[in-house]
Amino acid sequence: MESAEVARRFLKYFEQRGHTVMPSASLIAEDPTLLLVPAGMVPFKPYFLGQRTPPAPRMTSAQKCVRTPDIEEVGKTTRHATFFQMLGNFSLGDYFKEQAIPFAWELLTAPVADGGFGFPEEKLWVTVYHDDDEAHDIWHTKVGVPEGRIQRRGLADNYWHMGVPGPGGPCSEIYYDRGPEYGDEGGPVADEDRYLEVWNLVFMQKQLGAVRSKVDFDVTGDLPAKNIDTGMGLERMAAILQGVDNIYETDTLWKVLERAAELTGTRYGRDLRNDVSLRVVADHVRSGTMMVADGIRPGNEGRGYVLRRILRRSIRNLRLLGGQEAGLMHELTAAAISAMGEQYTDLVRTAANIHTVIDAEEESFLQTLRTGTAIFDTAAAEAKRSGGAALAGDQAFKLHDTYGFPIDLTLEMAQEQGLEVDEAGFRRLMKEQRDRAKKDAQDKKTGNLDVSVLDELLNASGGKVDFIGYNNVVAEARLAGLLVNGANVQAAGEGAEVEVVLDRTPFYAEGGGQLADQGLIKLGNGAVVVVEDVQSPLPGLVVHRGRVRQGEVQVGDTAYAEIDVERRRAISRSHSATHMVHAGFRRALGESAAQAGSENSPGRFRFDFTAAGAVPISVLRDVEDEVNEVLINDLDVRAFHTSIDEARAMGALALFGEKYGDEVRVVEIGDYSRELCGGTHVASSGQLGLVKVLGESSIGAGVRRVEALVGIDAFRFLAKENVLVAQLAEQMKTRKEELPERVAGVVSRLREAERELERLRSQQVLAIAASLADGAKDVGGVAFVGHRAPDGTGADDLRKLAVDVRGRLQARPAVVMVAGAPKDRPVVVIAVTEGARERGLKAGKLVGLAAKTLGGGGGGKDDLAQGGGADAGAIGDALAAVERAVGAA
Ligand code: SER
Repeated sequence: MESAEVARRFLKYFEQRGHTVMPSASLIAEDPTLLLVPAGMVPFKPYFLGQRTPPAPRMTSAQKCVRTPDIEEVGKTTRHATFFQMLGNFSLGDYFKEQAIPFAWELLTAPVADGGFGFPEEKLWVTVYHDDDEAHDIWHTKVGVPEGRIQRRGLADNYWHMGVPGPGGPCSEIYYDRGPEYGDEGGPVADEDRYLEVWNLVFMQKQLGAVRSKVDFDVTGDLPAKNIDTGMGLERMAAILQGVDNIYETDTLWKVLERAAELTGTRYGRDLRNDVSLRVVADHVRSGTMMVADGIRPGNEGRGYVLRRILRRSIRNLRLLGGQEAGLMHELTAAAISAMGEQYTDLVRTAANIHTVIDAEEESFLQTLRTGTAIFDTAAAEAKRSGGAALAGDQAFKLHDTYGFPIDLTLEMAQEQGLEVDEAGFRRLMKEQRDRAKKDAQDKKTGNLDVSVLDELLNASGGKVDFIGYNNVVAEARLAGLLVNGANVQAAGEGAEVEVVLDRTPFYAEGGGQLADQGLIKLGNGAVVVVEDVQSPLPGLVVHRGRVRQGEVQVGDTAYAEIDVERRRAISRSHSATHMVHAGFRRALGESAAQAGSENSPGRFRFDFTAAGAVPISVLRDVEDEVNEVLINDLDVRAFHTSIDEARAMGALALFGEKYGDEVRVVEIGDYSRELCGGTHVASSGQLGLVKVLGESSIGAGVRRVEALVGIDAFRFLAKENVLVAQLAEQMKTRKEELPERVAGVVSRLREAERELERLRSQQVLAIAASLADGAKDVGGVAFVGHRAPDGTGADDLRKLAVDVRGRLQARPAVVMVAGAPKDRPVVVIAVTEGARERGLKAGKLVGLAAKTLGGGGGGKDDLAQGGGADAGAIGDALAAVERAVGAA
């Protein structure tokens, strides 16, 4: 049974039993406690917690997931993968154990012809939480599983939570017995290799506070309802149903694996090391493709770092397989897109984009590998010189962090050189860095707040703060929650730094690239809070950060919120302009110019998009021209809500893969641009006034950044440049139009004059060569010239002069020494003829002697050498010392 069919069957089974089929949410988790979605239930978390009303009481989904804590295990075991899909059925306060258990049993055991998975009953075992008699009885009496195949297990195995504060509950797992050839008898308790877990049914009913480990956590209470969350790993199920031993050999991964073998000229199943690499490549390329498709870009922190690591590990393993050349990743990405395209049609639609990002990362990593080898050699030599047998942890870390050199490569190359690597030190530094990155990312969003405090705030504001700022700039609201230093308080006085939650607000929280509103919150009693930043740390929650300017604020007070209208208008202009420029680039460069990020600030915006190389200046000009031409037609800007499918059908640009929720907000600017967007905009395009693109640059592999000004800021910029040009024209005494030509002319004449000056100086220096040669002193049968050039003569000229004089004395044994002080410090050049060399007079040695006198060092070859020192006053002594040495030869 194909993987896609496993998913279809699962969803259909539950759809027929009253479940609404939900699309997979993006891999980018909305939840601030997570970087990536690691489980099928993540998008349902707010429903379990009662923070949001579920769209339906029964739902089912096939969710894309990425987990990387066990990345090193990928390929070595039969079941670790960084990307996988989780099938699940969810009940939000609807049915509970008594129905979830028979549902699961029926789907697993019903014949394939009837829409089931056709497992023989006697091959299935189940486990329940140790005191869950209820689940035990349902399995035994209602379903008919014999006592002997029901096992009880403790917290570590049969209690599920997210590893962070949130929902949790006891669970019951279903296992498939692969048969005696895979291990010992005795059920899952005895052997989890022989008995494979295929489905986890979680009875989600508790609210968890602090979670210290899998088995150590605080239960703070009951969830508002008793829920069901189940998870079946699609890949593992497919492996069983396809009769293969591991997930890498299932249909979709196999397509990538086979292509990798073909491209590297290897065969799967011949050599364990190669097999591991092939599996890593298959898993990682698929993960990377799925992550890029959801809008993640390779980077050095957060999700970007996870993606970069996955892509680089693929490339590294390809090299281990003998695949060195560029372009392999392109082929493999294409294989992944074709393997997954049936389930995720977006992949095919955005293939060009995905390729741009992955190709660029491959190119930059191959470059790193080329230069990295040289950097590694230096580090290794240093380690050896200092007598150590190991490369220090900080060296390995630096190679990794600064040069992107993977640790496994460092380890391997060190081994070749008989060196060890202080891996523990390396890992400690890596962990520190990762913790820092994680903290940075979360700090911005959550202000370092405890998630349980945020949950409290959300509850205090009625489960959801109403954002009414699309149509209002002021609002009357209730002060629902107040934090000082991250702790819930009832009141705060003048000067306090506070975080304020209102039940409704006109303040836009930073998001979707749009910066936050600023403004004031005035309380009925005369107190005022100055709002400097607004964030949404949890979906539905809006936190205003600021300072109490006067009076005392209290929870429960009536508040008048007013945003800084000028700032908002300027930001809205930037946001609408970003949409227009985005549309302009797509028209000019094609669909592959997809937005990869943006920042809309007052009067200014930047817009990042994927492109294989630099965008020609002519394209920038054309886009700018078109946008300005279109905007003066004063197109209406309209925002409306519709379903994601409808929005797609209208051609609206969705940036980062589909998001949950039935409805999306579409913003259209006339017929010119249509995007999914939650931001604020102008009412009509004419309000933008003017858009001025400042330039374009690279901000990373395959991603370009355009910066631009909007409205009065754009005008002021142009006006300022106009004045500058006028001033220049006046100074150059020419008309503005002729300025470039005029400046080019002046620059070229200046260059010529400099070259001429240089030529004359050299001539002058060399002019004395003849007289120096004539005046050579006979020192013990050797012609000796000792000359001090005027200060300021360049080192090049000193050398030229020495060589020139030596040329004139070629026939004789001769030593020519020219000294000078080009810039304060003395420089000495010595040139020696062959005749003198035969007498043992070596330029290098003589320079060494001179330099010593000058308080410095130097050396060189026997015929010509150069040195220097610190004390120009000693040049006379140096000349005398060399003359003496010549005499003594
Ligand atoms: N949340 C459970 C899991 O991830 C079941 O979906 O295993």
